[in-house]
Amino acid sequence: MNDNAYLSISGVDMTFTKGRTANPVLRHIHLDVRRGEFISLIGHSGCGKSTVLNIVAGLLKASAGGVIVDGREVNEPGPDRALVFQNHSLLPWLTVQQNVALAVDKTFRGSKSAAERRDWVLHNLEMVSMGHALHRLPAEISGGMKQRVGIARALAMQPKVLLLD
Ligand SMILES: Nc1ncnc2c1ncn2[C@@H]1O[C@H](COP(=O)(O)OP(=O)(O)OP(=O)(O)O)[C@@H](O)[C@H]1O
Ligand SMILES: [Mg+2]
Repeated sequence: MNDNAYLSISGVDMTFTKGRTANPVLRHIHLDVRRGEFISLIGHSGCGKSTVLNIVAGLLKASAGGVIVDGREVNEPGPDRALVFQNHSLLPWLTVQQNVALAVDKTFRGSKSAAERRDWVLHNLEMVSMGHALHRLPAEISGGMKQRVGIARALAMQPKVLLLD
C-alpha cells in the first residue's frame, strides 16, 4: 500500500459460487487512490467493474484481500462511501424528494435540524436540475432523471469517496 493512498484496494479476489460452480471474476486487484484523485475503471461488459465498486462500497465481501479507506478497513456500507448504482436503485414507493431525504436524514440526523435537512435535499436536487419533479415517483420520470436523482442522493451525503457506476 502506498502511504499517500486515501483508498487502497489490495489483493482483492472475488469468486461467485452457485452450487458447485465457482465463477472467478476478480483476481489480485490492487489500486491506490489519493485524496482528490479521479479514477476511471475501463473494461468490457462483465469484466468486474461493478463488482469492484460494490466491494469498495461494502455491499459485497471480497473472497480475498480487502479495502482500506482513510486508514480503516471496509466491512460494511457507510456514509463515507456513496455509490451511484448502475441500475438507479431508487425506492419505487418513495417520491424523488423522499428518496434523497431518506439518505440525508440517516446521515445528518444528529448534526442538522429537520429544516436544514429539508433545504439540503432541495439544494442537491436543484443542483441536478430535478427541483421541478420533487413529488414524482421513480416510475414517473425518465431513466436519465432517475440517474440524476441517484447522483443528488450520493452528493447530498457529502461522502469522502464517490463511486459512480
Ligand atoms: N451476484 C452475482 N452472482 C454471480 N455472478 C455475478 C454476480 N454479480 C456479477 N456476477 C458476474 O461477475 C462478472 C462481473 O460482473 P460486473 O457486474 O462486475 O461487470 P461489469 O464490468 O460491471 O459489467 P458492465 O459493464 O456490463 O456493467 C460477470 O460475469 C457477472 O455475470
Ligand atoms: Mg457494471
